[in-house]
Amino acid sequence: METKLAIGTRRSIRFFDPWREVEREKIQAILEAIYRAPRVLDVDFMRVVVVYRDRLSPDEMQALKTPTTTAQLDMAPVYIFILAEMKALDEACAGGNFRDLLRLGVLNGSHGWSEEFVQATATRYLRGIADDEDRVPLRLPVAGSDGEPQMVSREALRLARTAIGIAQEYALLAAVDEGLGAQLSGVSVGAARGILGFPDSWVPSSPVLLGYHGESLEAGGQRPREPFEEDFFELRYGHPFYREPAVVDRLKAAGMIQAPAPFPWRMAEVQGLARKFGLPD
Ligand SMILES: Cc1cc2nc3c(=O)[nH]c(=O)nc-3n(C[C@H](O)[C@H](O)[C@H](O)COP(=O)(O)O)c2cc1C
Repeated sequence: METKLAIGTRRSIRFFDPWREVEREKIQAILEAIYRAPRVLDVDFMRVVVVYRDRLSPDEMQALKTPTTTAQLDMAPVYIFILAEMKALDEACAGGNFRDLLRLGVLNGSHGWSEEFVQATATRYLRGIADDEDRVPLRLPVAGSDGEPQMVSREALRLARTAIGIAQEYALLAAVDEGLGAQLSGVSVGAARGILGFPDSWVPSSPVLLGYHGESLEAGGQRPREPFEEDFFELRYGHPFYREPAVVDRLKAAGMIQAPAPFPWRMAEVQGLARKFGLPD
């Protein structure tokens, strides 16, 4: 699928065919995409755990749910959890990743990179972030959770969450490319930690729910955003980036800009879906 079409077709899918398994090869393709996401400061933050709904016990399923995610967790057969290992920052402080990239001609003298720069500046910069005194709990306190959360540098946590966000977007677009529906969905973080068994040093996030579309591919149309001109500027804040109509037309033709929500039949579709899947309407 062309990139523009994948971007245009992606939207949060909240109805999945619960009975239709996702082929393992498609899951792997999504993981391979995540694996190739950019690395924040060349730190290997990324960790991924694939969870299959039908391998969870009823108690585990119940524990994961929040009031508005029950239906989608019940319907999506696969959850991809993308997490960040905070210890990766400590490892990166040794400078091994930077040196690898120097050797490979990725980071070069032309841009100010050298062994001396790695030694004297880059690794110290990373160490400064890791040791920063402005510290916050690694995870939010969760009712019933054991022990005090680990305190980490606020900036390091921000970088870890940036890495997660980028990886999530790779996963979503790869899922669309594989012909699947996907959605980021909140879950109970405390329950996820218990079920997945990841270490305290991993930063949790909203998993990518994965499955075949239970709703139509368009899912009622592209979802609303604020007017483009309110958020995109040129030269300075307050001077909107001029949106050339010919470019808009080209992107419509390529499928990046699609018909906006709601389609006239959307509410009937939602009612029909609720009946089909035994959900309240
Ligand atoms: C980190 C993150 C977490 C999200 N969690 C939820 C969620 O728990 N439940 C939900 O219905 N949508 C969730 N969403 C999806 C957003 O609501 C959705 O992206 C937004 O409404 C825009 O719609 P679109 O994705 O269809 O363009 C989440 C999105 C992000 C980026």
